Amino acid sequence: MDSRFRFGVLTLAGVLLLTVPGSLRAQEQASLPAGVTPAMVVQGKKVFSGKGLCVACHGDAGKGGLAPSLRDSTWIHSRGTYEDIMAQIRRGVPAESSATKLVMPPLGGAKLSESEVGAVAAYVWSLRLESGQ
Ligand code: HEC
Repeated sequence: MDSRFRFGVLTLAGVLLLTVPGSLRAQEQASLPAGVTPAMVVQGKKVFSGKGLCVACHGDAGKGGLAPSLRDSTWIHSRGTYEDIMAQIRRGVPAESSATKLVMPPLGGAKLSESEVGAVAAYVWSLRLESGQ
């Protein structure tokens, strides 16, 4: 392939990636983990900022605050799979394994049903799509 042509194709791909809106795209919905639906992500967002209390420590849209960002590609406590995130929420983070020495109580200290845990984990998982990492 001619290198100028290749450059053109790459630039076009880059422009397309940058211009597609940041919310869940059809292609991204297709890449959600098995068993996760877009509706769960929407419900999870409500849990995150509402009864889940997550927003109090992890900040608006998981951007970080007292507790680390949930949007970056760095996972401190797991590989960041959907199952890992669910397990993390159930278990919380005790002081002895916390990087910041701050504690996350199990379920963030909130009363969450299993389906709410699944939904808020789906939302946290989806933040990587929004942040493009
Ligand atoms: C009281 C504050 C607090 C609340 C509320 C809280 N967290 Fe956390 N969370 C933390 C702390 C502290 C850590 C670990 C920080 C460290 O290791 O330095 C953490 C870690 C995590 C991690 C692992 C991050 C990683 O990089 O591995 C996930 C996922 C997470 N929290 C999700 C949630 C969700 C979802 C909720 C709401 C249900 C929630 N948290 C509520 C304080 C909180």
